[in-house]
Amino acid sequence: MDRAESKFVAGGVLLLATIVFVKLVAALLRSGPGKRLPPTAKGLPLLGGLLRFMKGPIVMVREEYAKLGSVFTVNLLNRRVTFFVGPEVSAHFFKAPEADLSQQEVYQFNVPTFGPGVVFDVDYSVRQEQFRFFTEALRVAKLRSYVDQMVLEAQEYFSKWGESGTVDLKYELEHLIILTASRCLLGREVREKLFDDVSALFHDLDNGMQPISVIFPYLPIPAHRQRDRARARLAEIFATIIKARKASGQSEEDMLQCFIDSKYKDGRPTSESEVTGLLIAALFAGQHTSSITSTWTGAYLLRHREFLVNAVEEQKEILKKHGEKIDHDILSEMDVLYRCIKEALRLHPPLIMLLRQSHSEFTVRTREGKEYDIPKGHIVATSPAFANRLSHIYKDPDTYDPDRFSPGREEDKAAGAFSYISFGGGRHGCLGEPFAYLQIKAIWSHLLRNFEFELISPFPENNWNAMVVGVKGEVMVRYKRRKLTVDN
Ligand code: HEM
Repeated sequence: MDRAESKFVAGGVLLLATIVFVKLVAALLRSGPGKRLPPTAKGLPLLGGLLRFMKGPIVMVREEYAKLGSVFTVNLLNRRVTFFVGPEVSAHFFKAPEADLSQQEVYQFNVPTFGPGVVFDVDYSVRQEQFRFFTEALRVAKLRSYVDQMVLEAQEYFSKWGESGTVDLKYELEHLIILTASRCLLGREVREKLFDDVSALFHDLDNGMQPISVIFPYLPIPAHRQRDRARARLAEIFATIIKARKASGQSEEDMLQCFIDSKYKDGRPTSESEVTGLLIAALFAGQHTSSITSTWTGAYLLRHREFLVNAVEEQKEILKKHGEKIDHDILSEMDVLYRCIKEALRLHPPLIMLLRQSHSEFTVRTREGKEYDIPKGHIVATSPAFANRLSHIYKDPDTYDPDRFSPGREEDKAAGAFSYISFGGGRHGCLGEPFAYLQIKAIWSHLLRNFEFELISPFPENNWNAMVVGVKGEVMVRYKRRKLTVDN
């Protein structure tokens, strides 16, 4: 080694030593005297926690909850992730202002998919305005016109089925929901003329969201390159549609139109690229989540015939009252069906882990009265998949029982806010919840009125490998056409 080289090495060693020293001091300060830190899950340093987490996050949460209680920390690589399990400890998670607990850092991996200038690529003040655009696009007046399109799509789709047959319900419902989402969200042009192209591009975007993408969203792997090409092509397609709509002055009843017409507080209209990004975000938020939930709803109804009978009875009552017509208000009367969907979603929330980054220290108190100080810098997490099955909140929590939400029982309300968190809650609660219920009800009311079903494959399991946790394998059903009337 010559002089220059050894100087370089010595410099490197000094730098490394300084970093280690600073990290140690920071860690000591963080856990300084008087701090009541949550218990930490035992595991091999560095990789131990990560490996357990990757193998099965819910198994890990279940094991640590049993050992450590409702608040605990897991070391994942160089990050500390503190979990809050149950409504007693998760209120701050859901209600904290963005300055204290933010989404931007932990959901940053979405940026290359949604594109520049939207959602997690912009400051909170701009993001809030963009969420206002979502809220406006999902108002009841808009939902009414979306429902008409949802009903038409379901009628058209199932009219292609035969008198009887065997289908993979999961595949069928996925397809129908892409068609409906295209019509209600992406607009008539895409639905009628560009459906195949655009759904292939969305497929590439989807495929570009791998578990590795969460940590390295820009890693130059083929899936990411294809994602970037698809994002660029979608931007071109939507720019053309938006220009054509603006030039012709024509206005449509879809989310695309709402985003085109949206304006920031300072009067600035949305750009074509922002509109494209917001539509992609809407599709990512709503499409898989809704199709997974419709499949679980079907699987449970076909396994638990007593609830299927109740749901069919409700359809008869509604037929008696309103005839064949289905609209927003009629769907809103379907309480039995609502509870059947809600219960499937309690057992199988597709978003199994919600995350935030903490920017200021805060204290939580468990229901046993223990207090913990959560340091600034932790990632904080809560898990709908685990919290929705807590036995002190839900009776026989692993059993499908839609009646647990009936008046008089209302188990999710009895334990207070944030007991049922499939749609999150509080400051960032899902803006698409009413849309999702309407869409799933439009599908299942049509199916219950027009078909009899039998589940012929084994009851499905969760596909834990997917980013949005769905249904593993096929869900094969045998169907036979029937016409439900008030007398049969
Ligand atoms: C069964 C279907 C759905 C489920 C289970 C679901 C679940 C969720 C959850 C858990 C969150 C909170 C995320 C967090 O706190 O980090 C969320 C947020 C959101 N969802 Fe949904 N969602 C569904 C359907 C939809 C649909 C159909 C749309 C739009 C068309 C939508 C739009 C949104 C938006 C915009 C947010 C962000 C709200 C905010 O951060 O302020 N979702 N959703």
